[in-house]
Amino acid sequence: MTYCPRPKTRQEAMQWIDWNRGLYQTHGYGLWLLTNADGDFVGDCGLTPQVVDGVTELEVGYHVLPALQGRGYATEAAAASRDFARTVLGATRLIAIIHPDNRPSQRVAEKIGLRPDKRATVHGGRDAVIYAATLAPL
Ligand SMILES: CC(C)(COP(=O)(O)OP(=O)(O)OC[C@H]1O[C@@H](n2cnc3c(N)ncnc32)[C@H](O)[C@@H]1OP(=O)(O)O)[C@@H](O)C(=O)NCCC(=O)NCCS
Repeated sequence: MTYCPRPKTRQEAMQWIDWNRGLYQTHGYGLWLLTNADGDFVGDCGLTPQVVDGVTELEVGYHVLPALQGRGYATEAAAASRDFARTVLGATRLIAIIHPDNRPSQRVAEKIGLRPDKRATVHGGRDAVIYAATLAPL
């Protein structure tokens, strides 16, 4: 939670789940459940539309349980999400909205090919670095 303003309330968590279920139906993607090979809960990772500087962009996002961080889960899942964006959705640009001090998240973005693109103010006033990559069409 270091780079989040505060934990979600239960109602906000329910809205987050509803938002993702809606995205699955309307867009065919969202933040997906992340599990390991044994089926144990690891976190979430996936794709969401996000408005940055007035433009709707496709963002890859990821969250991994603290006890399971540093094992490559986020990198593996984010790379799979990037590949889904390119091959299934035909997306040509992918971004990640990242707190300027969130090095683990920046490393995940870098390792799947994203690079710092610009600074932006997002989510009602938070400063962020926008990592981005052009996805080559297949
Ligand atoms: C960002 C996050 C998802 C990374 O998950 P992860 O499964 O630990 O990531 P990986 O194991 O794939 O590691 C990716 C890189 O981050 C580095 N990293 C992981 N934890 C780190 C830490 N606590 N401090 C510094 N670097 C860290 C890894 O070493 C690796 O970089 P490297 O190849 O240079 O060594 C995880 O830290 C997290 O859930 N953070 C809280 C939620 C969050 O900030 N999400 C992103 C919002 S933009």
